[in-house]
Amino acid sequence: MLQIKRAGHSTLTTPDIERTIDYFTRIVGLSLAAREMNRAILATKSGLEAIVLERGGAVDAPRLSFQVAPGSDLGELASRLKKAGMKSERRTDITPGIGEAVAFTDPKGTTLEIFSDFKFAPEDNTFTGVMPIKFGHIAYQCPDVKGMVKFYCDVLGFRVSDWRSDFFAFLRCSRDHHTVNFLRNDKTAIHHIAFEVRDWSDIKRACDMLAKNDIKLTWGPIRHIIGHNIAIYHKNPDGVVIEFFTDLDQMHDEELGFFEPRPWHQDRPQKPKVWGDDTPSNWWGPMSHGSPQHAQALAQPAAAAVHHGLQTAPRKPALAEARAKQAQKKSRGKTRPRR
Ligand SMILES: [Fe+2]
Repeated sequence: MLQIKRAGHSTLTTPDIERTIDYFTRIVGLSLAAREMNRAILATKSGLEAIVLERGGAVDAPRLSFQVAPGSDLGELASRLKKAGMKSERRTDITPGIGEAVAFTDPKGTTLEIFSDFKFAPEDNTFTGVMPIKFGHIAYQCPDVKGMVKFYCDVLGFRVSDWRSDFFAFLRCSRDHHTVNFLRNDKTAIHHIAFEVRDWSDIKRACDMLAKNDIKLTWGPIRHIIGHNIAIYHKNPDGVVIEFFTDLDQMHDEELGFFEPRPWHQDRPQKPKVWGDDTPSNWWGPMSHGSPQHAQALAQPAAAAVHHGLQTAPRKPALAEARAKQAQKKSRGKTRPRR
């Protein structure tokens, strides 16, 4: 098993690379670390590579990079993968920051590039856009969520942070509550990409920044219950859902096994578990019909909760059923005669 320490960057294909570079530099506030004819490498202002853009016909996220401990022998990692039945290859010159990697494909077809040593991009002291501190997580839709969770845990050393019922998994490779999400759907596709910002004031600044550039939020600001992050969502020019978040749950000590106590936690201690499918996606207020978690939750049939060694929440009515009841109640209220 490998032991992933952090996500490196996500590679995105885009039909209009100039437009997408403009969005990621001017709006998101990443720096253009390198530019080739059909490729651009974007890093945070402090030099962490975050996004690689490639000119392509369809919008996709075909590759994802992860870092293992610096100094790890990539040949030895490849042997370990071979023993586990995985076919991998060595690649060089991945980005200016990643000289060497071992590449292999996960069961849903995403190429994973595993690197051990990383060189930060030069610091960029200009102030543009939202300026996230790092690439936080990526969520994929795929048919076999359970299979993906098993692969990421058994092969890459991820841990399960939470499940929503049996269709939405949150996995961590560091202190952060989640670095990858898998959400059940018939088709495999990118669901959203998330960047971490420093604090709540940067969320507020991001809202104003986006509005000033005529980009409307599709959801938020909200506080999630699963992961407890404060988040806002919008779509980039290619239609990819982009999240900015802060205040994500942290597991500082794996042996203690709980997320650092917070005033807004539902359980004391807050441990990884399977949340009911009627768990609100927004602790602060009503859920939006356009919300990434909620839209999917509504589309999913009620199914038996899975265990994966985690405590299963008592079975409750499906989220769709709960919302239908809420709507019924609301409409009854509206037809009540006025006094
Ligand atoms: Fe997210």
